[in-house]
Amino acid sequence: MVGLYWKPIEGLQIAMDGPSGSGKGTVAKHVGKELGLPVLDTGLLYRFAGWQATAADVDLMDESAVLQVLHEVLPEMQWRAEGIFFESNDCTSLLRGEDVGGLASQVAHYPKVRALLLDVQRDIAKSGCVMDGRDIGTVVLPDAQAKFFLTASQRERARRRWAQLHVKDKELSIEQVADELMERDKRDVGRDCAPLERAKGAIQIDSTIMRVDEVVDRILAVLERRDLIHAI
Ligand code: DC
Repeated sequence: MVGLYWKPIEGLQIAMDGPSGSGKGTVAKHVGKELGLPVLDTGLLYRFAGWQATAADVDLMDESAVLQVLHEVLPEMQWRAEGIFFESNDCTSLLRGEDVGGLASQVAHYPKVRALLLDVQRDIAKSGCVMDGRDIGTVVLPDAQAKFFLTASQRERARRRWAQLHVKDKELSIEQVADELMERDKRDVGRDCAPLERAKGAIQIDSTIMRVDEVVDRILAVLERRDLIHAI
């Protein structure tokens, strides 16, 4: 499967949801590359929202203040497959920090924040993409032709996250990362608005003991079986 040349059907939308560390971002990147589709990481949008609200020094518990900041900064934001640019500066790597992930999940439960970001996501997905997040199959792209829900054991998810972050922060322990992940999972699964859950019809893949290329292979096989991609 991997290594063949694939042509996706016109406008193919692939939704890829799952908790932090489930591998959805990495898998989405590979699937997008195999199919020549843009890969859109929606977590970056929520990270941008949490980051901007904090930079503006507003109380993250105050939904309307967070919303107000977003209305002000969104016109200066550009979201592309390569990442997020603000006032023409690439802020993607800053947004990927673990601390910003925590801020993101604190503002992501606000219905009005989600409604505002929903339009941004639907608009960019129009001409086809692999989009990863928490509510892509359920809310953002309910009509996506293919939906996947990635999982992995909590220990393995913490280990993966730690391996990424440890490069920059040698003091960081797996236990710290595991605690932070648990907190984030609780917020993402427990919120009332668009919680993390498997969409109806989404194929669940537990990647705990799978290599990335094995997961990608499985996804490509599903897409081919459903006539959504063709080998050329
Ligand atoms: O995938 P990530 O770690 O970059 O996401 C950061 C936070 O953003 C995550 O804790 C929950 C939130 N999020 C969300 O609520 N909905 C999405 N579609 C993507 C992310």
